[in-house]
Amino acid sequence: MSRSLVAIYPGSFDPITNGHLDLIQRGSRLFDRLIVAILRNETKSPLFSVHERMDMLKEVVKAYPNVEVDSFDGLLVDFAAKRSAQVLLRGIRAISDYEYELQTALMNRRLRPGLETVFLLSNEAHSFISSRLVKEVFGLGGKISGLVPPSVEARLERRLSKSKRKGA
Ligand code: PNS
Repeated sequence: MSRSLVAIYPGSFDPITNGHLDLIQRGSRLFDRLIVAILRNETKSPLFSVHERMDMLKEVVKAYPNVEVDSFDGLLVDFAAKRSAQVLLRGIRAISDYEYELQTALMNRRLRPGLETVFLLSNEAHSFISSRLVKEVFGLGGKISGLVPPSVEARLERRLSKSKRKGA
């Protein structure tokens, strides 16, 4: 009997980085279907709206036919059940990620036994990249090419020049 393995790759993706993209590429090879799921959480005061983040993600995952983009709120395990996913995919960049990821994975397992969390180690070339640092460096005038997809860099540039104009 053939069975389709569906995984969810959840996150804030504010914005998507090349580290996220690497995980998406590798996840798309491991699973039959990969759903990249953006958390709709306005309390985090994101730089980009959910709509903008959906657009950015859709643009960069176009190359992977078995990858789709969705958004969710509430519990991740409930969203996983709604989308009939068997796996949650998360990346680990460094030991500092491990503690949070361990706690979250164990809580998710308690909430929904049988839903497995699979961790992939970040490619070492990306292990220092985070959305938070990308925004900080970019906001202070640093170079971020190679850290985010070119379409995301262009969007960041538009966003920064708009906010400069507002402040002018
Ligand atoms: O990119 P992030 O911010 O590290 O992603 C965190 C995310 C979205 C995976 C996590 O905050 C999450 O799953 N939130 C949904 C709410 C939930 O299910 N909370 C209980 C987790 S134990």
